[in-house]
Amino acid sequence: MALKKFVAGNWKMHGLSSDLEKIRAIAEASRNYPNVDVALCVPAILIERAARAVPGFAIGGQDVHHAEKGAHTGCMSAAMLLDAGASLTIVGHSERRDAHRESDTEVQAKAKAALECGLNLILCVGESLEVRERGAAVTTVIAQLDASIPHESTDEAELTVAYEPIWAIGTGKIPTVGEIAEMHSAIREQLVHRYGAAGNQVRILYGGSVKASNAGEIFSIADVNGALVGGASLKAADFIPIVAAAALV
Ligand code: PGA
Repeated sequence: MALKKFVAGNWKMHGLSSDLEKIRAIAEASRNYPNVDVALCVPAILIERAARAVPGFAIGGQDVHHAEKGAHTGCMSAAMLLDAGASLTIVGHSERRDAHRESDTEVQAKAKAALECGLNLILCVGESLEVRERGAAVTTVIAQLDASIPHESTDEAELTVAYEPIWAIGTGKIPTVGEIAEMHSAIREQLVHRYGAAGNQVRILYGGSVKASNAGEIFSIADVNGALVGGASLKAADFIPIVAAAALV
């Protein structure tokens, strides 16, 4: 059976109280597409207000600490995210892997902590332009995936993998259909290798410059089960057409 499409927005460091209206608009319009799962990952400080504003709609965090609690100034545990009303979190986004020097081992520990606490996960992997240009994209991403995904067997609801080529994030550039197809099929193969048949139930999102004008084509690629959307998730007018495109395939 085909996996239910999943479109998640990543607001990154955008969003103030005055933007709760935008979250409401997105949640409301998403109800018109019951065959697509939709979520917004907002700045941690907005999670509680967002979750209260849109009951029943999935609100997520963008990162989580691997420890349960302790002397980790400025960090948040999975239990804190859950307590604030989040039902999921992103881990391993390339902006954190780069700017915060997060290793695969660290990402894996974060993934484990989030799952153990009952948060669903969007785990990101992706190659740099330099890696793509020297023809090592697939091997690099599969090695990264293998070292970052949790060991425990998991399912469609709990674990989502997002393939996000770093050079496509926020740049307007996207890989060709063939490149996306090749990567998603390699990721699927690796998930099945790791989890057995359950690996077929893990959704694989594409992320990097997804917008209304390219979403339909991206969603029609085999093993693309949705999208992780940055810039185009900030306004309902940009985001909802992407959800609508996912509803069509
Ligand atoms: P973008 O970001 O859609 O703005 O390219 C995607 C992401 O970083 O998740």
